[in-house]
Amino acid sequence: MSKILVTGGLGYIGSHTVVELDKAGYTPIIIDNLSNSSTKNIIGIEQIIQKKLKWYNIDCKKEDALNQVLLKEGNIHGAIHFAAYKSVEESIKYPKKYHDNNIGSLEVLLNCMRKNNIKNIIFSSSCTVYGNPESLPVDENTPFKKAESPYSETKQICENILKRDSCNSVILRYFNPIGCHNSGLIGDYSNNKPTNLVPIITETAIGKRDNVTIFGDNYNTPDGTCIRDYIHVVDLAQSHTKALNYLIKNKGKHVFNIGTGKGVSVKEIINAFIKANNIKINYSIGKKRSGDIEKIWANCNLANKKLNWKAKKSINQSMIDAWKWEQHKNNHVI
Ligand code: UD1
Repeated sequence: MSKILVTGGLGYIGSHTVVELDKAGYTPIIIDNLSNSSTKNIIGIEQIIQKKLKWYNIDCKKEDALNQVLLKEGNIHGAIHFAAYKSVEESIKYPKKYHDNNIGSLEVLLNCMRKNNIKNIIFSSSCTVYGNPESLPVDENTPFKKAESPYSETKQICENILKRDSCNSVILRYFNPIGCHNSGLIGDYSNNKPTNLVPIITETAIGKRDNVTIFGDNYNTPDGTCIRDYIHVVDLAQSHTKALNYLIKNKGKHVFNIGTGKGVSVKEIINAFIKANNIKINYSIGKKRSGDIEKIWANCNLANKKLNWKAKKSINQSMIDAWKWEQHKNNHVI
């Protein structure tokens, strides 16, 4: 059973990936300092997989502490690096905090991997590296645009660090992850108030908010609202196990888009939620959000072909699961 280090393994995408790693026969070793996650996710993970996992509460910028874990565990086959801050808005307010944490943690992890002879890493990147694309869908060769935020800049810098490092790496560029495990037991426990569309819809459904404001309806899209590529987080998590299998057989540097290949508008998402859960949502049209990209969706042919991976879950399923999560988080009985 190959041991895989998962930094940020109690976060939204990390926790779902830990479940998939276990399912695929890997042994996840979790590192998480709870700075933007919760021990409730370890409870949820262990309930889902019906076994105990190793979890270390350390900051992966602390080289000595991380080194000690790697030494103690021994025989680790690779790392999946999720540990990073992820709020675009917060990164604009506190750019240094984002640079120090997101770039610092990758550098420390790579040092520790080198010392402990761990050669394989999967890195969480984001479609924000593409900025506002000139043609659609975007494939992996689409050049980076000037970063729109410090968050996005940290992803571009980390990708460049990985390109120069001697390790074998897979960079996964995520599109918009939504939903949760169908048990509703694990999900996003971020401290920050959500700014992403789907959590805002579910908070409106549960009554924490009165209304969803659609940020602009006069974009150059069929219904005037922005278009994104929304991917179920379980599909996204599965791409990591496939990427690991691939990296073990194919050394070197690899980059893959991880999305569905389909663009969906804000209005379509709101209507999908209403239909899937039979819940009425109030929404109104507001001003455009500054920095928003009009439309983006992925060309995922490379991941489909090389990783033998494809997103399978529907938007309808994502909406059902997203609603389960909102209820679970608020201690409602599902
Ligand atoms: C955001 C981040 C991106 C990150 C991604 C991860 C920004 C600018 N970008 O992408 O870096 O990788 O999340 O999930 O924050 N919308 C509304 N009303 C709302 C909230 C959102 O209309 O109250 C619209 C937005 O205008 C956008 C769509 O919903 O068109 C999706 O927004 P969001 O969920 O914030 O994701 P992104 O902006 O694509």
